[in-house]
Amino acid sequence: MLTSQIVVYSQHGEPADVLSTHSYEIDDSHIGDNEIIVKTLAAPVNPSDINQIQGVYPSKPEKTTNFGTVEASAPCGNEGLFEIIKVGSKVTDFSIGDWAIPAQVNFGTWRTHALANDSEFLKIPNPSQSKANGKSTGLTINQGATISVNPPTALLMLTHYVKLIPGKDWFIQNGGNSAVGKYAIQISKLLGFNSLSVIRDRPNLQELKDELTSLGATKVITEEENGSKEFGPTIKGWTKETGGEIKLALNCVGGKNSTGVARKLANNGLMLTYGGMSFQPVILPTSLHIFKNITSAGFWVTQLLKQNPELKVETLNQIVEWYEDEKLIDAPSLQTKFDPNGDKPLHELYQEAVINSKQGKQLITF
Ligand SMILES: NC(=O)c1ccc[n+]([C@@H]2O[C@H](COP(=O)([O-])OP(=O)(O)OC[C@H]3O[C@@H](n4cnc5c(N)ncnc54)[C@H](OP(=O)(O)O)[C@@H]3O)[C@@H](O)[C@H]2O)c1
Repeated sequence: MLTSQIVVYSQHGEPADVLSTHSYEIDDSHIGDNEIIVKTLAAPVNPSDINQIQGVYPSKPEKTTNFGTVEASAPCGNEGLFEIIKVGSKVTDFSIGDWAIPAQVNFGTWRTHALANDSEFLKIPNPSQSKANGKSTGLTINQGATISVNPPTALLMLTHYVKLIPGKDWFIQNGGNSAVGKYAIQISKLLGFNSLSVIRDRPNLQELKDELTSLGATKVITEEENGSKEFGPTIKGWTKETGGEIKLALNCVGGKNSTGVARKLANNGLMLTYGGMSFQPVILPTSLHIFKNITSAGFWVTQLLKQNPELKVETLNQIVEWYEDEKLIDAPSLQTKFDPNGDKPLHELYQEAVINSKQGKQLITF
C-alpha cells in the first residue's frame, strides 16, 4: 500500500480557512490494466487555483468521497508535473520514469501521489529522454510543472486569432511583466512579431524595462506613457518604422488600463481579455467600436483546449521544443520542498504559498 497525501476543501472559502490535508491508501499491488500510479514532482499555485477554492471560478472539480473523506471534498490544484512510478499491464503510452502532466484541469495536483487512468495524463519528455533525442538540455522541474497554463496562453493568444505579419506587425499588452506577459514577449520575438508592453511605474522601473528588453521586448512603456496624448506620436513612429500595425491587444488588467491598450489598436483590431487583475470591468469607448471596428473578446485557455485536445498537444509540443532548444525562459518560481515526514502538513505549505503568491509564482516541490 502507498499512502498519498492530498490537499482538499469541503466548503468554499479563503484558502487560509478551508484547506486540509487528507491521507488515503493506494493499493499499488493491484492496479487496473490501463491505470498508472504517479508521484508528484512539483505543483504550483495559480490565481485560478485560489479562485476555485473561493468558489468564484467557473470550472471546478467535483466534490467526492473517493479519497475517503467523511464529507465530500474537492481536490486542489490544476497544474503539476508527475513521474510515472507504476503502469498497468495494458498501458502502452507510459513507462516507469516518464514525466507526465494532467491532460485536463481539475485533476487535483496538490498531492503526493495519484492513481489514474492513463488517458488522464499527457507525456512530456524527461531530461534523459530529451538528451537521448539529441537535445542539449531537458526541461527543468519548474518548466514541466508550469507548462500547461501560462506558456500556451501566450502562444495561443498570439497565433490563434489574428494573423500578425512577422517583422511588421505589433501587439500591445498590459501587465507586461506578468508571467503570461513575459512568455508573450519571448514568443512574439521567436515568431518575429513586435511587442509593446505596458507596465506599472515603480522605483526600479529601468531595471524591469531592461529585464523585459533582455527577454526580447521591442518596446516597454509605463501606464502613464500609454495614457498620455503627448506620447501617442512616439508609438505611431515605432509602428511606422516597421511598416506594420498594432492588430492585437492582450488585456489582463481591465478598467482604464484596458481602454488605454484598446486605443492603440489599428482599425479592425482585436482586444483579447484573459485576466482582470484590477477587478475593474473592461471599459471600451463606443467610438472605438463604431469608427475603428475594434472587437473585444475573451480568452480562456481551459475552454479552448478542452474543445480542442489536438491543439493542446500541438501547443505543448512547441513549448517543449523551445525549452529544449533554450529559446524560451520560464518564469522563475519561489520553490518550497514538502517533507512528508516533517511537522508541516501539505495544506499549510500551500496556505503559505497562497499568501506569498503576491511576491511571485509559488511552486511546491515533492
Ligand atoms: N484566461 C486564461 O486562460 C488565463 C490563463 C493564464 C492566466 N490568466 C490570468 O492572467 C492574469 C495574469 O496571470 P499571471 O500568472 O501571469 O499573473 P502574475 O505573474 O501574478 O502577474 C500579475 C500582473 O498583473 C499586474 N497587476 C496586478 N494588479 C494590477 C492593477 N491593479 N493594475 C495594473 N496591473 C496590475 C501585475 O503588475 P505589477 O508587477 O505592477 O504588480 C503583474 O504584471 C491572472 O488574472 C490569471 O488568472 C488567464
